[in-house]
Amino acid sequence: MEKILDLISREVMEALEANGYDGKYGKVTLSNRPDLCEYQCNGALAAAKEYKCAPYMISDKVAESLKGNPMFASAESVKPGFLNLKLDPGFLAGYLQEMAEDTERLGCNPCEDPKTVMIDYGGPNVAKPLHVGHLRSAIIGESVKRLGKFMGHNMIGDVHLGDWGLQMGLIIVGLKEQKPELPYFDEGYQGEYPKEAPFTIGELEEIYPAASAKSKEDEAFKEAAMQATYELQHGRKGYQALLSHILNVSVSDLKRNYENLNVSFELWKGESDAQPYIPDMVQKMKEDGFAYMSDGALVVDVKEETDTKEVPPCMILKSDGASLYNTTDLATIVWRMEDYHPDEIIYVVDKRQELYFTQVFRCARKTGLVGPDTKLKFLGFGTMNGKDGKPFKTREGGVMRLEYLVSGINEEMYKKITDNHTVEEAEARETARTVALSAIKYGDLSNQASKDYIFDIDRFTSFEGNTGPYILYTVVRIKSILKKYQAKRALPEGAGILPARSASEKALMLEISKFNSMMESAYEEMAPHKVCAYIYDLANAFNHFYHETKIMAEPDEMQQAGYIKLLELTKRSLEACIDILGFDAPERM
Ligand code: ARG
Repeated sequence: MEKILDLISREVMEALEANGYDGKYGKVTLSNRPDLCEYQCNGALAAAKEYKCAPYMISDKVAESLKGNPMFASAESVKPGFLNLKLDPGFLAGYLQEMAEDTERLGCNPCEDPKTVMIDYGGPNVAKPLHVGHLRSAIIGESVKRLGKFMGHNMIGDVHLGDWGLQMGLIIVGLKEQKPELPYFDEGYQGEYPKEAPFTIGELEEIYPAASAKSKEDEAFKEAAMQATYELQHGRKGYQALLSHILNVSVSDLKRNYENLNVSFELWKGESDAQPYIPDMVQKMKEDGFAYMSDGALVVDVKEETDTKEVPPCMILKSDGASLYNTTDLATIVWRMEDYHPDEIIYVVDKRQELYFTQVFRCARKTGLVGPDTKLKFLGFGTMNGKDGKPFKTREGGVMRLEYLVSGINEEMYKKITDNHTVEEAEARETARTVALSAIKYGDLSNQASKDYIFDIDRFTSFEGNTGPYILYTVVRIKSILKKYQAKRALPEGAGILPARSASEKALMLEISKFNSMMESAYEEMAPHKVCAYIYDLANAFNHFYHETKIMAEPDEMQQAGYIKLLELTKRSLEACIDILGFDAPERM
């Protein structure tokens, strides 16, 4: 469906043209004075300069031409030259009826030119538990991916595991200290390696931090870890067998964690998958004259004349020939281009890595890893802080494990739900889980991604205010009215959305009608917070309407059915949005 703003703008343009003015001045916007009108056009102010007359002379004529136009209840010219518009309730009801008839997309056209978009998010590190730092990437990335899918793009999410580098060597030597008898450490071993991993996820998560701490004090231990990393990267069989155990154990744990967050990935590739592409890539960068030795390291210059801050060269190989985080990211671009030919690659990463990605992107462009038709986009997010304004920590000051954070909020929600009324244990647990997820995700996504925000459990879990639970509460309220209605009667033949009879009903309808334009701009700007803002306004408008309107007691059968249709559409709009945000609503709460 055409966006309502475009429909209105067209009428105003035609009215301008009918009076001999250029239609380009007819752009209509949402009113910034909702007390006066719903939409407005300020074009006459600009047009007056071209036509050398007072602005109101133009807006007067346009208002006159719009009189009797079935789209408007009123079109008023206000000095100095504003055009204030109110929609005709019948027109608005017709628009919503058409939305309602679009069972899949609620009147939001899919994009005309679908793109293949790879989205790199999550970014967990193998053998290290997920911590809150990974939460934002997962939540924001998943939502942007769902937004893109809704708009009709081919979105491919890749978790981009941190599964390469010194951490692997540390685990290997850490394990060797504990269980030196394992065959993986015996270089002469010829047999098959055991299928069963020699550790559980719990053990693995202890080995790594212990080894990491030890390497900071014990130089010989660190040397050994570096040596093990080198040998792993150069094909030592026992170590590669260990690597696949580490990956299996870690990945199944990660999958379970992400599932709890309603987050899933199309690809489970990691940094290690990029390794085979490194030698050729480096070779070519050298041959083409881009990469050169500087202080023993291989680098590519990426600074540009217009830089206001220094952008250091992109380091390709360390002096000992080892690859780096950069090298892996560049080589990852190589296979992404070869296998998927993406039109765009989006990286959802902590904004503190922005300079790093500037280097990587410039290097990839300069050396021809990506052509001019592929966009590289950095979607950097801010820090999740505690109430003290510092990065979120456990009470003891340690790094908070994501699992504990989530289960803590589940518990909080469970208490609230069981305090309110008696519910069966299993249902209360399930509902708590659903509502807790909305609290976490909405709390995050309602902020502009690039900003830091304060993770305030009390506020996020509240059923009132701009929160996930409030949105779910509204959906549940609508569901319960619909159930009550269905229990009493079936919708009569010919039921449909009717023109608003009250201001609160019209306000609700105006909010709903913004769905398609909101979705479009939310994706264009990669801004899930716009989806949150839409549903918050929509939920408020609905609750206001609900308090002022007797729905179940409405005597006119058709009028009542019209309300029910409007409620259904409100519910569907809310549900489509929360699905994009990555959570859903329970039946009751
Ligand atoms: N594993 C990294 C970290 O924990 C994030 C990876 C981000 N993605 C990327 N392509 N570099 O910081």
